[in-house]
Amino acid sequence: MKDTLFKSDKINGKFKFDEKVAGVFDDMLSRSVPFYSEVQQMVADLAGKYYIEGSKVYDLGCSTGNTIINLCKSIKDKNAPFIGVDSSEPVINRAIEKIEGRGLSNRVDLVCSDILDLDLSDAGIVIMNFTLQFIPPHRRLALLKKIYAGLSKGGAFLLSEKVLENNPETSDLFIEKHYDFKREMGYSELEISKKREALEEVLIPFTMEEEFDLLKEAGFKNCSVFFKWFNFASFLAVKD
Ligand SMILES: C[S@@+](CC[C@H](N)C(=O)[O-])C[C@H]1O[C@@H](n2cnc3c(N)ncnc32)[C@H](O)[C@@H]1O
Repeated sequence: MKDTLFKSDKINGKFKFDEKVAGVFDDMLSRSVPFYSEVQQMVADLAGKYYIEGSKVYDLGCSTGNTIINLCKSIKDKNAPFIGVDSSEPVINRAIEKIEGRGLSNRVDLVCSDILDLDLSDAGIVIMNFTLQFIPPHRRLALLKKIYAGLSKGGAFLLSEKVLENNPETSDLFIEKHYDFKREMGYSELEISKKREALEEVLIPFTMEEEFDLLKEAGFKNCSVFFKWFNFASFLAVKD
């Protein structure tokens, strides 16, 4: 279904992953996140490369299940346990429908839970696509430390985020490039500005430097950027 949530003059309030968002989420993601499907493919490809036989694969903030569906193709081990976690019931219900529709229910465990309450263990791959940015900043380090502790040696953490630059002018320019992308995708000025207001204090991006510092402080010594487009970046962090 097409995302028209911010089209009317009505006040929407703060952004929530509710039933209304769930109904249009796939359209919203593909028209709001530049190179969304390419990033999904890169994540699936890297996950296939770093997967450790017998280990678990976590997708934290799995939303409607797009990443997990790709992972089921790139990770060939039919016994690999896939665990998708999301705190929004309406959103994860879409994932359940999609995973069932593709006959993948026997391979995937979908859990409706706050990531902050989750216990991770024996992980070969942990993915967080565009979700850490929604975690309160003061809780991010503890979460990343938990992810690091739950990963097996040689396992990988794949993180995608909206990011800022150190220089505020460059940051503003990159944010404007993102709005250009949304205009090209058919969003109106009203929709763009209303969504921006709704996301204020809900989606809190870090700078590239802060992301690297966080990863390093959590324990990851081996961190790289595998994708960057203006104010979007994807990181690969491997546990040595
Ligand atoms: C932008 S979406 C993620 C998109 C998805 N990873 C993808 O690549 O298609 C962010 C998701 O994180 C979930 N989320 C936000 N905070 C969460 C939390 N504390 N625990 C679990 N899920 C959370 C939201 O419900 C939402 O589905």
